[in-house]
Amino acid sequence: IDELLAEGVAGKRVFVRADLNVPLDGTTITDDGRIRAVRPTVSALAAAGARVVVASHLGRPKGAPDPAFSLAPAAARLGELLGSEVAFATDTVGESARATVAALTDGQVAVIENLRFNAGETSKDDAERGAFADQLAELADLYVGDGFGAVHRKHASVFDLPARLPHAAGGLIATEVGVLKKLTEDVARPYAVVLGGAKVSDKLGVIDHLLEKADRILIGGGMAYTFLKAQGHEVGISLLQEDQVPAVQGYLKRAVELGVEFVLPVDVLVAHEFPDLKTKAPAHPTTVAADAIPADQEGLDIGPATRELYAAKLADAATVFWNGPMGVFEHPDYAEGTKAVAQALVDSPAFSVVGGGDSAAAVRILGFDENAFGHISTGGGASLEYLEGKTLPGLAALED
Ligand code: 3PG
Repeated sequence: IDELLAEGVAGKRVFVRADLNVPLDGTTITDDGRIRAVRPTVSALAAAGARVVVASHLGRPKGAPDPAFSLAPAAARLGELLGSEVAFATDTVGESARATVAALTDGQVAVIENLRFNAGETSKDDAERGAFADQLAELADLYVGDGFGAVHRKHASVFDLPARLPHAAGGLIATEVGVLKKLTEDVARPYAVVLGGAKVSDKLGVIDHLLEKADRILIGGGMAYTFLKAQGHEVGISLLQEDQVPAVQGYLKRAVELGVEFVLPVDVLVAHEFPDLKTKAPAHPTTVAADAIPADQEGLDIGPATRELYAAKLADAATVFWNGPMGVFEHPDYAEGTKAVAQALVDSPAFSVVGGGDSAAAVRILGFDENAFGHISTGGGASLEYLEGKTLPGLAALED
């Protein structure tokens, strides 16, 4: 983007593909981290006199307008952060978008409605995606890719549109890629990886890749129960991906061969049912050993002994990558595990990267100072796929 700014963008319509996919409670944004992260790019372009057209997806609507997934709240928040009025188009490539962009004056910013209200955005069919990208291209003279959280998606606005316009990477993408390189090349050791979240299947790719690089891998969250099962323990009614047990057993075995330490929970908080996240009514969990989960109960957070163990395993690390909460942190009775990992990273001198989505939102929602971490990524799936060594369509499209 620096080169683009140096060449001059005054009077040019610049399409900024951002990731404004923020968590919402109705129309209230519960974590605006992704909007704050792209603000510098938008304000630099506006300050340079560009007519800035910001676009993003939000959630997973089914290729048609759906008010529950409107970008209007995100557009309003961007306006607050910029301290200037942001125009909002109520469609993506229709009359409203064309009129809103045509009305922009130099230095003004507009947000167009959710890209995924158009089936062409996410289509697997190249021609359908291409046709939508053609329509988007009519709205702009230049393209800036800065939606790091979506670069792993081969979508029209991420992959096809940059091929149709002179393009550049935004500052957020440049920062994110710079940080992730530190986790893949010449990594400072010991290198600890903390993985949590619900599904083990989402993390197998990154485990596969990081087994060759990490010194220890700590497991928490819903995915821990598939690991415990793979070790031969019963997990009651906890989240379990039975079909992944053989793969996990394979990784546990390979870790021993490679000298990589897998650290699993030694105790967990259990209850008969999933907590009510709306009322946050007390859940009254009990703590049990990880190999003694009662048949009629489910594990919902790591226990106190595990919190201590994980803090100790992170204390002497030089590099830490963390993706995925340790428990159902949205409920106060199950937030301690996630808090303990966040606190351990704050206390440790390690270069720590919090990878995306839920874990990034968790540290902010739980009240941690984001500056206390080395980096909080805006990409969940994107940072995982980067660490898996995959080619990310949104980065490849900007490189050529
Ligand atoms: C994310 O939240 O990881 C990104 O915004 C991508 O969203 P998606 O998984 O719906 O493509």
